[in-house]
Amino acid sequence: MTVIAVAGKGGTGKTLVSALLINFISENTSSLLAVDADPDSNLPEALGVADEVKKTLGDVRELFQVSRDEMGTMNKEQWLEGKIYAEAICECPKYDLIVMGRPEGEGCYCFANSLLRGILKKLMRHYEYIIIDTEAGLEHFSRKTIDNADYIIIVTDMSRKGLATAKRIKELAKELKLNFRKIYLIANRITSKEAEDTIRRFADEEGIELLAVLPYDESVAEVDLRGDPVTAIDKDSEVCRRMKEVSNFILGLSVKAR
Ligand SMILES: Nc1ncnc2c1ncn2[C@@H]1O[C@H](COP(=O)(O)OP(=O)(O)O)[C@@H](O)[C@H]1O
Ligand SMILES: [Mg+2]
Repeated sequence: MTVIAVAGKGGTGKTLVSALLINFISENTSSLLAVDADPDSNLPEALGVADEVKKTLGDVRELFQVSRDEMGTMNKEQWLEGKIYAEAICECPKYDLIVMGRPEGEGCYCFANSLLRGILKKLMRHYEYIIIDTEAGLEHFSRKTIDNADYIIIVTDMSRKGLATAKRIKELAKELKLNFRKIYLIANRITSKEAEDTIRRFADEEGIELLAVLPYDESVAEVDLRGDPVTAIDKDSEVCRRMKEVSNFILGLSVKAR
């Protein structure tokens, strides 16, 4: 099991990077779980599988709150696990997908959350690769819904705020004692050599390895605007070529780690 978390400020390209990684890595393994952990969820759309998503994990947790009394003597963990397997895991042709959904509403979710944590942990062990499109504050990690990431890929654009968030994520990952092996950086939507140099300097100073520099690509934005999946992006575009290299690099890493 190799867990890859894609993090970064909102709008920097986390979902683009996650979706391309999922598509490329799933060409090399039949055992991949994609996790959309951003409440502002759009990974299913980027992957072109939005119709497959029946329920989010949040929906199942809500159901658990209202159905508790009806369960009677039934084992609650088994009930929740059964519901998750039946309704929240989307089986797409090349990978499975789970959408975490919105954060909990009012009421006490401690019990449901602690069950969920155990079920997710067990579920993740079934897969060779887990790719998580996260939210900037690593909320699922700080709440320990997901308790580990082997590799964290931070995506930044050429804004100060993108870099500041990258720095904060690096610190947060350490604070949370995530048992990660390494943190990487991907610079996205880069339009000038000057911006690229600034990001390279930042990566050096922070001791984060820069995995790739992706240019701004009008056609990528257009694909997104049309609501088309990332598979519609030209395979020969620099964005696709570089992300394919990143995917191969990650495939190599997990072979080495075995
Ligand atoms: N390299 C790029 N070139 C052009 N547009 C991009 C590029 N990367 C991302 N975008 C666009 O920027 C927006 C935000 O990207 P997205 O992946 O949704 O970011 P995040 O998941 O971090 O919020 C989208 O409209 C996307 O199409
Ligand atoms: Mg996103």
